[in-house]
Amino acid sequence: MTQARLQFGAPWSAAEVISRGDKPPKSVHATELGVLFNGDCLSVLPHIKNESVDTIFADPPFNLGKEYGETVNDGRPDDEYLAWSRKWIDESVRIIQPGGTLFLYNIPRWNIPLGAYLIERGLLFRNWIAVNIKFGLPIPKRIYPSHYSLLYFTKGKAKTFRSIRTPIETCRHCGKEIKDYGGHRDAMNPKGVNLTDVWNDIPPVRHWKFKSKKRKANQLSTKLVRRCLELSSRPGDLVLDPFGGSGTTYDVCEHTSRHWIGIEVEKESCDVIIERLENGNLHHHPLHDHIEEEEQITDYVEER
Ligand SMILES: C[S@@+](CC[C@H](N)C(=O)[O-])C[C@H]1O[C@@H](n2cnc3c(N)ncnc32)[C@H](O)[C@@H]1O
Repeated sequence: MTQARLQFGAPWSAAEVISRGDKPPKSVHATELGVLFNGDCLSVLPHIKNESVDTIFADPPFNLGKEYGETVNDGRPDDEYLAWSRKWIDESVRIIQPGGTLFLYNIPRWNIPLGAYLIERGLLFRNWIAVNIKFGLPIPKRIYPSHYSLLYFTKGKAKTFRSIRTPIETCRHCGKEIKDYGGHRDAMNPKGVNLTDVWNDIPPVRHWKFKSKKRKANQLSTKLVRRCLELSSRPGDLVLDPFGGSGTTYDVCEHTSRHWIGIEVEKESCDVIIERLENGNLHHHPLHDHIEEEEQITDYVEER
């Protein structure tokens, strides 16, 4: 089967993919590239056509009792949280194109059962990426957690996989290289080292240069989202993020010429997203990755 890709610059209307069901939802904001819905993702996702999206990036609430607003209950019993997660995952699996990608960012505790569910639903496991971020305080009688889990799945063989090289790691204090590469330093590729499944270079988002003062809840670094999108998609592709938050994914899409569909249940968060997109004044963390261009695979072949 050959996948049709959207061409960047070609006219695109969200209505092409938001056309299932009787009453398609109304967007609260639109740009030339994307469209934002203020609503529960479980009500909006069913309106998106089957196999229409290239990459889904999902950073749902972690059920850790955070305050996102009146409509979000982030402290449910475990089984309820997992049942809810399986519902939006079912919709996501339906919506992704063959060969398309799903990234799921969560704490390890939830990504273990949710990763198993994605395998059960027929997606292809590619990586568990450990995103090294220091948590607040150590928890008594527990090993100190210092990574979030980023699951990387595709629907069958990946139709787009752009190899990434990251800069050789240096000490942020003295500037010297951290590893000695076993005496092979001179033979190393000057474009950097192959991206690994441990990401040590993702900064937290704290400074107001990067974060709107109106955004009280957490926000991901553009560096993390951009790496995921560069790896799995190309300009003109369609990206969906069902948990908008402050709109990091949509902002990255605008900067990298991807089409996007955004959903966020909280009205206040939607206002923050709209302001972010309209003003374009939030800084992005610099990304010095080298993206290796390869021939695009358009023929989708079932791998198993
Ligand atoms: C962890 S935050 C996402 C942060 C985002 N990645 C960013 O960088 O700003 C999760 C977001 O999902 C929203 N949310 C929670 N339940 C939702 C639902 N059922 N449908 C849509 N959005 C939801 C919350 O209001 C919150 O803003």
